[in-house]
Amino acid sequence: MDIANRRVLITGASRGLGRTLAFAFAEGGAREVFAGARKAEDIERLRSDAQAFDAPITPIKLDVTLAEDIQAAAALGSIDILVNNAGVAGYGNPLQMNFESALEEMSVNYFGALRMARALAPAMVEQGQGMIVNVATAFAKVNLPLVGTYCASKAALLSLGQALQAYLGDKGVHVMTVMPTTIDTDMSSGADVPKMTKEFVAGEILRHIRAETIDPPIGDEAKGILDGLLKDPVAMEKMIGQIRA
Ligand SMILES: NC(=O)c1ccc[n+]([C@@H]2O[C@H](COP(=O)([O-])OP(=O)(O)OC[C@H]3O[C@@H](n4cnc5c(N)ncnc54)[C@H](OP(=O)(O)O)[C@@H]3O)[C@@H](O)[C@H]2O)c1
Repeated sequence: MDIANRRVLITGASRGLGRTLAFAFAEGGAREVFAGARKAEDIERLRSDAQAFDAPITPIKLDVTLAEDIQAAAALGSIDILVNNAGVAGYGNPLQMNFESALEEMSVNYFGALRMARALAPAMVEQGQGMIVNVATAFAKVNLPLVGTYCASKAALLSLGQALQAYLGDKGVHVMTVMPTTIDTDMSSGADVPKMTKEFVAGEILRHIRAETIDPPIGDEAKGILDGLLKDPVAMEKMIGQIRA
């Protein structure tokens, strides 16, 4: 799908990958980019930065756990590309970590994406075209126990994407779940590992949107994980399973 002239909506665009994606879509020629943020100060900052760069970005108040915010997003009119990017990650042993964090992961990473798809897909179907991009992780395919419940929520998201593709694919709506490994954002600030830049990941996501890829790994490490899983899934699970809290 071409980016040019599209109406795009990105959840979780106050900072990190979502914010970078908003400006990348604008630079790629999108007609209008709705950038979801929860806090008034982030909405204001997005507005002034978009003006400064003359970017067609419209910040909107959007918490993906709030029905009224999602209804307001659906009322913006038909969106061509929805990016379910909003995400939260709790760290720790699933048996001991704060249970509220595990609930929030499912609520934002999985149910948030499902609610957004339910709100926006009908208009895509009506216009006979559209795309839903879910931002998951390569560790949706094999659990990284350091962030075990987070990976479980992203595995649910990946699986949901397959269901959505099954219902929407033949109606002109392509559903893609992208699978990066670590990106240099607030979310990974505690992890002392090699990280991809937000700009690289955003560029790769736009490349895959143009190519209408199916569930692509993003970056060499993610490709290596998926290849390893094809060759020897048990060995890969054992290896990644060493990385614990
Ligand atoms: N960083 C990584 O290593 C990495 C790797 C693979 C995949 N990912 C995925 O990439 C996506 C972007 O993450 P990031 O790295 O950019 O993280 P980040 O810098 O922590 O940003 C997370 C974004 O999600 C938003 N968000 C959280 N809860 C929300 C809610 N209830 N409703 C709407 N927005 C909400 C945050 O908004 P506030 O500013 O209001 O909190 C923020 O804009 C996530 O889905 C993440 O799981 C990240």
